[in-house]
Amino acid sequence: MSSDLGSPGATTQRLLVRQARWIAHDVLELRLTRPTGGALPAWEPGAHVELALPSGLRRAYSLCGEVTDTEAWTIAVHRVPEGRGGSREIHETALVGRELEVRGPVNRFPLVPAPGYLLLAGGIGVTPLLPMARELTARGLPWRLLLGARDRSRLVYAEELVALGGDRVLLVPQDEAGLPDLAAELAATPSTHAVYACGPQPMLDAVTTLCRTAAPARSPHLERFIAATDAIPDQLNATSGEFEVVLSRSGLRLTVPADRTVLDVIREKLPDVPYSCEEGYCGTCETPVTAGVPDHRDTVIDPSERPTATTMMICVSRCDSPVLELDL
Ligand code: FES
Repeated sequence: MSSDLGSPGATTQRLLVRQARWIAHDVLELRLTRPTGGALPAWEPGAHVELALPSGLRRAYSLCGEVTDTEAWTIAVHRVPEGRGGSREIHETALVGRELEVRGPVNRFPLVPAPGYLLLAGGIGVTPLLPMARELTARGLPWRLLLGARDRSRLVYAEELVALGGDRVLLVPQDEAGLPDLAAELAATPSTHAVYACGPQPMLDAVTTLCRTAAPARSPHLERFIAATDAIPDQLNATSGEFEVVLSRSGLRLTVPADRTVLDVIREKLPDVPYSCEEGYCGTCETPVTAGVPDHRDTVIDPSERPTATTMMICVSRCDSPVLELDL
């Protein structure tokens, strides 16, 4: 992992919510600018920023505007009624004209060099892929994008994508066309092309399995978003027993009960410890482990890398040894 929103390189600024508009069913697009105008830090496709909402909740969103628009950052937020409140707050609070603290941008989902690209999106997962499609078009590289959603009203940025890519864009409203044929898309994509996918976990699981079992096997680039129907995986709700956490910089020793997360317990002592999704998919809370055996439950670290991982996502991961020591 190269960086996170808590790293010294991630900048924080107060930005004005300049504009909001509906772009699909239950999806609100926000345009953020400096209060008095002026250029914002540059970013590359795949980057995200973290918003501190008026309630204190912090949530990460992919930047989905034009990278050439130096004066504004654009995000799109899908309302998740049964979520933990971040998207509801954004949808139900009159944010236009208000200032929010925004950290970033950080890019954990960058474009890697490749002769061509297959971009697979589920619902709001299209947000990091739209700037990628623009970038690949500008570079003259071959790409194809598949966007699936429950129905046409939920095909986020469909018009922009079709205007950009024409028949390189395949829209799959599932009430009309059924589930996207990911296997066919992958089979039709040369093995040298890079595969990027962003969407709900079942879709990413399917992409992972198809890529691993392909001949030759391929390594997809994945970013997860919670969809409206995507419940928090059981694995994240399951707890292990009580264990101790030692914070190596201060020597503090804390007890993590079976019904609380490492993040919860640490925040009582270190309120500024970075976090965002609290569901193990954004990477903001990634923390170096200096001793002990983490029980990784996130979706940031690839399962194949877990045995050798030197960091953990403290919002969901736990501990398989009696004591865990963290570089905090
Ligand atoms: S806060 Fe998102 S992975 Fe932990």
